[in-house]
Amino acid sequence: MERTFLMIKPDGVGRNLIGEIVKRIENKGLKIVGAKLMTVSEDLAKTHYGEHSERPFFGELVDFITSGPVFAMVLEGENVVQVGRTLVGVTNPSESLPGTIRGDFGLTVGKNIIHGSDSVESAEKEIALWFNSEELVDYSLVN
Ligand code: CMP
Repeated sequence: MERTFLMIKPDGVGRNLIGEIVKRIENKGLKIVGAKLMTVSEDLAKTHYGEHSERPFFGELVDFITSGPVFAMVLEGENVVQVGRTLVGVTNPSESLPGTIRGDFGLTVGKNIIHGSDSVESAEKEIALWFNSEELVDYSLVN
């Protein structure tokens, strides 16, 4: 079954949005198979955002993601990478539609509340980077 990685960033955690965001994920019928509140080391931040290392905002991005706790999750379900991206919205909250997490709660691209894997391949890499296999739980939702 397909999996994706979502991470509520320090702005989302700091604004008490964990419950609101988890509610949207559960209401959609997605299964959370891993979740943890954690602080992010500089190494982890730089590895996770490695593809942006040459961008002018890279330093700011690393500083921000290490500035406070994040809530990291692994979701499982059919087509869950795309479904997760639809729930999250587009990168820039000012262009993200109302009804999406970024559209409803974000205002600027630097503080866009949540990260979601952009492809099945990225999801596999990100899940392996953020979670150990023992932290992922196998169970069935009651439908
Ligand atoms: P995310 O989906 O976590 O992946 C890369 C992040 O880079 C993105 O969300 C934004 O938060 C951040 N980002 C993209 N463009 C900019 C920018 N111009 N200035 C600051 N941060 C940015």
